[in-house]
Amino acid sequence: MSVNISPESFSPPFHFKGVRFFPAADLRAVELAESFEVRDDDVFVSAYAKSGTTWVQQIVSLLSTEGDLSEVNKVPIFVRVPWFETMDMSGTGEPLPKILKDAPSPRLMKTHLPYRLLPKDAREGKGKIIYCARNVKDVVVSWHKMREGFKFIPSGTFDENFEEFINPEQAAFGFWWDVVPEYWRHKDDNNVLFLKFEDLKREDLRGNVVKIADFLGRTLSDQRIDEVVANCTFSAMKDNDATNFSRDEAFKDQRKDGFEFMRKGKVGDWKNSLSPEQSKILDDINREKMAGVDLSFEFE
Ligand code: A3P
Repeated sequence: MSVNISPESFSPPFHFKGVRFFPAADLRAVELAESFEVRDDDVFVSAYAKSGTTWVQQIVSLLSTEGDLSEVNKVPIFVRVPWFETMDMSGTGEPLPKILKDAPSPRLMKTHLPYRLLPKDAREGKGKIIYCARNVKDVVVSWHKMREGFKFIPSGTFDENFEEFINPEQAAFGFWWDVVPEYWRHKDDNNVLFLKFEDLKREDLRGNVVKIADFLGRTLSDQRIDEVVANCTFSAMKDNDATNFSRDEAFKDQRKDGFEFMRKGKVGDWKNSLSPEQSKILDDINREKMAGVDLSFEFE
């Protein structure tokens, strides 16, 4: 597939229904989301940006592969599991939901849409939604590092990006404290699986892969599960051009020197970037906004 990735092909940040979207999100695609006709075997991999989206995309893609894993693994992840609310990157100039309308099943899609902006069909139980959440301190740091590293994403200094992140009107893809609790409220819906980055990282990755396979209704041999796990570790994904945007040729002109997409993949790396004051600000917002939400995260 030829890929058309140039800054001109991406919209600058825009607002839709109170949510601020960043490149590569596209207004026309976001507008089409509501009425997108979802099929029973559709899968949406959803996450707040920098929360393990690509990781879960890779797991879902490999679990859904009938043939040779090593072959499918060579196809870029953004082709295997395209970003739903963007412009088609093959150069048709069409919003992706329009192209996906005629795509063969099963359609695997990534999204950063808040739950309330997902297709109505999905909110009514059609298709499957796998949500991955990550502790907010690591998210804020990882998001800054990506803004710094990709030319097509506007960025300020770390402090400026931090201020945007904690501002409900400016935060990318919605205010973390609105978006994540909203998905959490749907965690028991039949078509939702809610995961945490920290569990995938700290607990048993294989167990989480099996959980995802079960949710998708896929029965795989133990050997096949082992192969999926081997292909979704941090080091395997870092070494893979198809999952590491710092290695993918298609993004060559879009990244600054030294940018690492597969950067650290750790829990608690925020300590190296957040000042004690910034860490306290996040603690204070958490205390206020997460009061009464029985969702907690490991921060270290
Ligand atoms: P860091 O910047 O903290 O390293 P997203 O895919 O939502 O953009 O998230 C990217 C973050 O997930 C990056 O975090 C990246 O390193 C991490 N990540 C991706 N794949 C991973 C894996 N297999 N294991 C651990 N972390 C992973």
